Parts: sequence; structure tokens; C-alpha cells
Amino acid sequence: MILVTGGAGFIGSNFVLDWLAAGQEPVVNLDKLTYAGNLQNLAEVQGNPGHHFVQGDIGDFDLVRGLLEKHRPRALINFAAESHVDRSIHGPEEFIQTNVVGTFQLLEAVRAYFAALDAQEKSRFRFLHVSTDEVYGSLAKDDPAFKESSRYEPNSPYSASKAASDHLVRAYHHTYGLPVVTTNCSNNYGPYHFPEKLIPLMIVNALAGKPLPVYGDGQQVRDWLYVKDHCSAIRRVLESGRLGETYNVGGWNEKPNIEIVHSICAILDQLRPAAGGKSYREQIAYVADRPGHDRRYAIDASKIEQELGWRPAETFESGIRKTVQWYLDHTAWVENVQSGAYRQWIESNYQDREASAPHRSHA
Ligand code: NAD
Ligand code: DAU
Repeated sequence: MILVTGGAGFIGSNFVLDWLAAGQEPVVNLDKLTYAGNLQNLAEVQGNPGHHFVQGDIGDFDLVRGLLEKHRPRALINFAAESHVDRSIHGPEEFIQTNVVGTFQLLEAVRAYFAALDAQEKSRFRFLHVSTDEVYGSLAKDDPAFKESSRYEPNSPYSASKAASDHLVRAYHHTYGLPVVTTNCSNNYGPYHFPEKLIPLMIVNALAGKPLPVYGDGQQVRDWLYVKDHCSAIRRVLESGRLGETYNVGGWNEKPNIEIVHSICAILDQLRPAAGGKSYREQIAYVADRPGHDRRYAIDASKIEQELGWRPAETFESGIRKTVQWYLDHTAWVENVQSGAYRQWIESNYQDREASAPHRSHA
């Protein structure tokens, strides 16, 4: 048995689906079901006796302690977090509550559980904390990619809250001997990605004939990794990662945002040509930038590759094509996630931006 937190979100649900499809042990899936958590992501494992879903908060010490005592997992993988940078700018409090206080309470519950395990159970147990490359801050154009030894310099309330959680996880290893490993991954994309993030937002807006809002000059660089590759890296680290270590995970796919948007438009132009022979590129609209927008992230993934033999299976070209196809094939999922609350978010995030954007030619 393993315990997964945040397993109804984007990466967590992909992880749970892959884990169970590979015939691994049962999963207890603890998720608060915030706006980002969606049981439809887990429809494939509905009724599967290996999947036990529990709605609840990682910050609820008694609930987590009870689950640990009842199910006695040999590992806990912590995906649960508030994850969207723009939302952290609009309202940071939830980010502190879940990412910092929630992770602290989770660690406390695990510490109590771990202390009572016998020696053999202790040697087996792992706490794997899923984190982000954003904790390292922003790189200049020619700076070397982030290594595990890079200094933490978070710039948004989101990345600061993730950095705080990473530090707590590290401290629980050094102080209490908790067997932890942390992964710091770059930008994921793929199935079940909530359409508030760049790639799914561009796909769903393009298909709906809406503007494709590119922040600032669109030259910010991110490293992109197909979500299934992130999941395989997590499995590898869980299996063989060294205790107390951190592992950077990335796809060696650095690209400026505008190039990502152009790729999506080109694939859609082929797979779902728009009426009148227009290219989806014509919908691109430059809008006001994100405050404090990090210019560039890049991951040096040599440690996980050399130590654990992990490599991504997808290139950006194969992964983005699969992703666009997935959204074309799952229109019901897309419609369902675009609830009233989703529409309110889109309005509050983009309304002022569009009004204040400089006028530019886009296509
Ligand atoms: P997501 O926002 O899609 O999903 C987060 C999940 O956590 C949701 O199901 C939500 O309901 C749940 N959750 C939120 N608060 C909770 C709480 N207090 N208790 C229990 N459950 C709670 O996020 P994601 O993109 O799947 O990211 C998962 C993890 O991976 C996060 O920790 C994130 O920081 C990290 N990460 C994400 C990316 C990325 O590109 N998306 C990259 C690197 C690391
Ligand atoms: O690097 C890992 C991180 O990647 C994760 O830790 C975060 O949880 C995840 O959300 C992601 O953060 P980003 O801020 O990089 O992702 P997002 O999809 O929000 O934005 C990607 C880039 O695209 C970023 O430079 C901002 C830009 N962008 C985003 C949106 C939503 C736009 O230009 N327009 C948009 O409408």
C-alpha cells in the first residue's frame, strides 16, 4: 500500500493511473478536491479495489495519522499543493496554508507514524515530496541550468511556499531521521492538465475561437516535460533515490512561450483546421505581463540520469502532439472543468490584462 496526496490533480492523477495500470500495490488517495482536484481524472480506476479515495486535507493531522495507522503504507508521495503562480499572485493565503502549513502537518503525522514502525518497516518507508524547479528562481539567457546545488531564490508566493515546504522536508530528515527524497521538476504538460495553465489554456481557447493570451513579450523560457515522464521519474526515485537527496527532473526541452503557442497552433491547423482556412495563430493576443514573471527556467537532469538511469521517453514534439490529440478526444472533460468557478477565474485574471496590453501585431 502507498499513500498519495493530491492524486485527483493533474500530475497526481496521472501518477495513480499509471501506478495501478502497472499492477503495483493499492493506493490510498487523499485529496481535498479543491477547484484543481477532479474525480473525473480517476474515472478509469473507479471501482478498482486497488484505489481508495479519501476526500480530506493534508493539513488535518488527525485524519492523516488515522489513515497511516489504518493502511500502514510503505511510502507517501506528496503531490498535494496549490500550484498556479497567477492564483498565488491574486491570493497567496491558500498557498501558505496548504503548501507550508499543510506540508508541516503532514510531516508531523508521518513523523508520529514512522516513530512507531519496527526496524524493518522503518528501513522500507519513504516520504517522497514532489516539488518544482521554480524554487531556484529565474535564470539569465546564458546561465547554466539549475542543478540540485543551485541556490533557492523563489520569486512568487507559489514558489516561496514550495521552497518553504522543501526546507521543512529536508529538516525532518536531518532532525528526525525521516526517510525523505525530494524531486524538483520543470513544467509538465499532458492529459488532465487544468486549462488555467499555458498549454491546455491555449488548446481550449483556440478551439473555442477565443484569444490566446501571451504574457509580456512571450520570450520567457520554460523547460517542458511530458507528465508521464515526470511520473516515471518519481517511480524511479521512490525505488532507488538516496535518502535526504533531491533530484532535478526535466526534459531538456527549453522553449520560449511563443514557440509553444506556435507549435500548438500548427498542430491544430493540421488536426482540426479552423473555418475559412485561417490559422489559429491569428488568435494570438499579447497581454500585460505577470508581475515578477521569471524569465527563464532550465533543469540540469544529469544527476537522476546518471545515478538512477532515468530518461524521458517523449520528445517535446511527440508529447505535445499526444496532448493536443488528447484534448480533441476529451471534449466532455474539458466542458466539465470549465464550470462557473473556472469562468470567474478566467475573467479576473485576463480582463485587466487585455485592457492594459500594448497593441501589437500577432500572427
Ligand atoms: P494541481 O493543482 O493540478 O493538483 C493539486 C491537487 O492537490 C488537486 O487535486 C487538489 O485538490 C489537491 N490539494 C490541494 N490542496 C490540498 C490539501 N490541502 N489537501 C489535500 N489535497 C489538496 O497540481 P499539479 O500540477 O498536479 O502539481 C502537483 C504537484 O507537483 C504540486 O506539488 C506542484 O507544486 C508540483 N509540480 C507541478 C508541476 C507542473 O508543471 N504542474 C511541475 C513541477 C512540480
Ligand atoms: O516550472 C514548474 C512549474 O510550472 C510548476 O511548479 C507550476 O505548478 C506550474 O503551474 C508551472 O508554472 P508556470 O508559471 O511556468 O506555468 P504556467 O502554465 O502558468 O505558465 C507557463 C508560462 O506561460 C509562463 O511563463 C507564463 C506564461 N503564460 C501563462 C498563461 C496561463 C502566458 O503567457 N499566458 C497565460 O495565459
